[in-house]
Amino acid sequence: MPTDASTDSVLSARDLTRHYHLARGLFKPGATVRALNGVSFELAAGETLAVVGESGCGKSTLARALTLIEPPTEGSLRIAGTEVAGASKAERRQLRRDVQMVFQNPYASLNPRRKIGDQLAEPLLINTDLSRAERRERVQAMMQQVGLRPEHYQRYPHMFSGGQRQRIALARAMMLNPKVLVADEPTSALDVSIQAQVLNLFMDMQEQFGTAYVFISHNLAVVRHVADQVLVMYLGRPMEMGPAERIYRRPLHPYTQVLLAATPSIRPNPDKPHIPISGELPNPLDPPSGCVFHKRCPHATERCRAEVPVLRPLDERQVACHYAEVTAGTVAAPARAAG
Ligand SMILES: Nc1ncnc2c1ncn2[C@@H]1O[C@H](COP(=O)(O)OP(=O)(O)OP(=O)(O)O)[C@@H](O)[C@H]1O
Ligand SMILES: [Mg+2]
Repeated sequence: MPTDASTDSVLSARDLTRHYHLARGLFKPGATVRALNGVSFELAAGETLAVVGESGCGKSTLARALTLIEPPTEGSLRIAGTEVAGASKAERRQLRRDVQMVFQNPYASLNPRRKIGDQLAEPLLINTDLSRAERRERVQAMMQQVGLRPEHYQRYPHMFSGGQRQRIALARAMMLNPKVLVADEPTSALDVSIQAQVLNLFMDMQEQFGTAYVFISHNLAVVRHVADQVLVMYLGRPMEMGPAERIYRRPLHPYTQVLLAATPSIRPNPDKPHIPISGELPNPLDPPSGCVFHKRCPHATERCRAEVPVLRPLDERQVACHYAEVTAGTVAAPARAAG
């Protein structure tokens, strides 16, 4: 379900930015990690935004800002029409119900000493007036929806497999029928053989509940079949963002191209260019000048070293590259600077 009218959005981010200040000992000046810089998007009910990029690009920082775990340093966030920064205490309580999160490691987010049924009932106990019997009924219905059996109610987290635990984490996140679910690498700790099952369950639940998803992954292939929109990040900055179908069919940012080319596929495609990703991720405390990707970019020129590219619309998406027309094949390549 594509969106363009911001009035439809359940989640609206404008220039979200998060910087961390680090003290580096008595005689050294402090440093700043620009973990997240200027992320904006609109997300409608039932739609999925996939956020992808390598380790340290700011995916979890974005997740923490969206789930109100950590306020952004700058920028604004609206959830179901409510501006988070100006929300009253009561509104914040509601917002915390409206936005739920599923983490990478479900074991760490479940209490090892409490029965699964009780953990699933907890959000209902805190947030609703339902009776004990009604809560139990709701929990069992939800357990069935995520593929757990009624007898699992009495079991403890260690008695489940990783995939089952992620089903439990998803069930718990959905108990209060949130408007937004943020899932931070929810399948990357699971066996490859069950990743697809769990992904399918996420999609089934979205269809039933109409929840908006922010789905985080370092792997573009994983999110290919779940994403409506894709946001590609590098070193805390959005590189390319737009409809998934456009971006997969014709990635414009050199970084997106590299990520896609590096993704193993089941059926090797002879037409798919092999673009090696060279060089290491830069130190986030000392990011490159100009375009943060220039040191690893096959197209980089002097201009890329000097000038930060801004996100701009091109071919039905936004892209932050001086030479996106070149990568799109509409103009000739510039001479590459030596070195
Ligand atoms: N609390 C913090 N204090 C200081 N720096 C932080 C903090 N949290 C994150 N960072 C830094 O911010 C940057 C982005 O981190 P983040 O965890 O958001 O990346 P990520 O994309 O989720 O990575 P991964 O794929 O490894 O989970 C990193 O350089 C990280 O070291
Ligand atoms: Mg992370």
